[in-house]
Amino acid sequence: MPGKYGFIILEGSLELIPENLHTHPSVISTAKRRKKSPGNIILDKSLHYKAMKKHSLPLIEKRGRPDIVHYLLLSLLESPLNKLGYISSIYLHTINDILIRFEPTTRIPKNYNRFIGLMEQVLKNGKAPPDSSQPLIMILNESVEDVAGKYHRFLVFEYRCNRIDESGRRELSKDGVLLGIGGFPHGRIRDDVLKLADNCYSVLNIPVDAITALHILLCIAENEVIGLYG
Ligand SMILES: C[S@@+](CC[C@H](N)C(=O)[O-])C[C@H]1O[C@@H](n2cnc3c(N)ncnc32)[C@H](O)[C@@H]1O
Repeated sequence: MPGKYGFIILEGSLELIPENLHTHPSVISTAKRRKKSPGNIILDKSLHYKAMKKHSLPLIEKRGRPDIVHYLLLSLLESPLNKLGYISSIYLHTINDILIRFEPTTRIPKNYNRFIGLMEQVLKNGKAPPDSSQPLIMILNESVEDVAGKYHRFLVFEYRCNRIDESGRRELSKDGVLLGIGGFPHGRIRDDVLKLADNCYSVLNIPVDAITALHILLCIAENEVIGLYG
């Protein structure tokens, strides 16, 4: 039964460098090295933290971590759940509300710098490959609400919510479920996004990294649906 789940990375920490940071020396230096204009480069806290701090970038604690989005996407695309055909769509909702759809068959670069180059292309051209009529990666003119509306249930994962129990596992194993996980390093999922969810669960009673939460969630789904772990 292929195509059971949709996954959405919520408020993924991936964005082009905001305009007010373009003249900062750290940004100019990246732009020179990469031979690109600052407006076509993805914000990276490890390179641009001084610029982010100097310009008091709002929500600074959630921004400039495209590496988190990279490893979440790699884990989803390489997961047994996906390889066995149980994921119908993977969406990336970015911190500034851009919605990007990844075909489950997409192979993204494992190398971080090449991934960044690919996502810069997608943010510039709206899709990848850029001249394809059936792109593997595409910006959608949709909101999280629009995406959630395509599924029977939208379940969001946060450590402050009740731990997933027997009835939650049953809910998770039904058809047409969209699973959402935060794609940022610190803080909570925005209220306007959370309120779209039919239910919110935690996978553990402690906060963990997004990648750890995703791996536990994938194991739960793989066990509930395919009985993969006995
Ligand atoms: C690194 S966390 C950000 C939250 C952060 N640790 C905090 O201070 O709350 C990123 C995402 O991981 C997921 N997550 C982290 N711990 C979780 C847990 N115990 N149960 C379910 N999801 C969790 C949530 O989706 C969260 O938005």
